Amino acid sequence: MRRAGAADAAAMRVVCLRTGAAGGDATALHADPDLRGEVWAVPYLHAPGAVARVVEDDDGVAGYCVAVPDTAAFEEWLEASWWPRLRERRPPPDATPADRALHRLADDPPRTAPELLADHPAHLHVDLLPRLQGQGWGRRLLASVVDELAAAGVAGLHLGVHPENARAVAFYERLGFTTLRPDTGGGPVLGLRLRPDHPGGAPAPGTENPES
Ligand SMILES: CC(C)(COP(=O)(O)OP(=O)(O)OC[C@H]1O[C@@H](n2cnc3c(N)ncnc32)[C@H](O)[C@@H]1OP(=O)(O)O)[C@@H](O)C(=O)NCCC(=O)NCCS
Repeated sequence: MRRAGAADAAAMRVVCLRTGAAGGDATALHADPDLRGEVWAVPYLHAPGAVARVVEDDDGVAGYCVAVPDTAAFEEWLEASWWPRLRERRPPPDATPADRALHRLADDPPRTAPELLADHPAHLHVDLLPRLQGQGWGRRLLASVVDELAAAGVAGLHLGVHPENARAVAFYERLGFTTLRPDTGGGPVLGLRLRPDHPGGAPAPGTENPES
């Protein structure tokens, strides 16, 4: 496991695509294989203050965890510096519904509700290819990113989960996340409070959670 850099973008796009269908392979859903990663993973290699880790084995990068400490500031940065690039990349004639949904998101990105950000201003994404799943890498990646956020004084983080990704919900709950907003169709929003005053930064995910 190491910090991610710009050279990891291509591998991160692949991981994002192959885990993009509620945790499963989304390759068949897209005509543009890069678009999903350009929306959900690669921006975190460029955004100010972002934290990004990858895990790699002999076959290359097979997973990442990316986060930003301040989601509202990140959304401003996306609007100014990232979405304009994607808006120039119009859907090709063979674009699939999933491609078009990502283009719509870049054209008209939703903003995260301020009440969610008050106690949980950060957010993250973690994705591993199947060959590294179930071996503790998700926990390690997340702990490393959470420690860095906590050391920077971040109060808490949130994340959204696809409504059909029960496995990810179980993983996050095991690591101490609680439900901030129940699933009303688009999937639940989970959260973790961090305690920067805690010796060593945040509580180890899964061992202690102030909200549980
Ligand atoms: C979800 C994901 C990140 C979890 O990472 P992982 O490396 O497979 O999980 P870990 O091996 O680190 O598991 C950490 C803990 O969660 C628990 N856990 C993981 N999956 C679980 C499940 N389905 N049910 C119950 N517990 C589970 C493990 O038992 C482990 O607990 P322990 O350390 O106390 O034994 C990974 O499987 C993945 O990338 N899946 C595909 C993409 C995805 O769904 N990403 C999340 C999008 S919101």
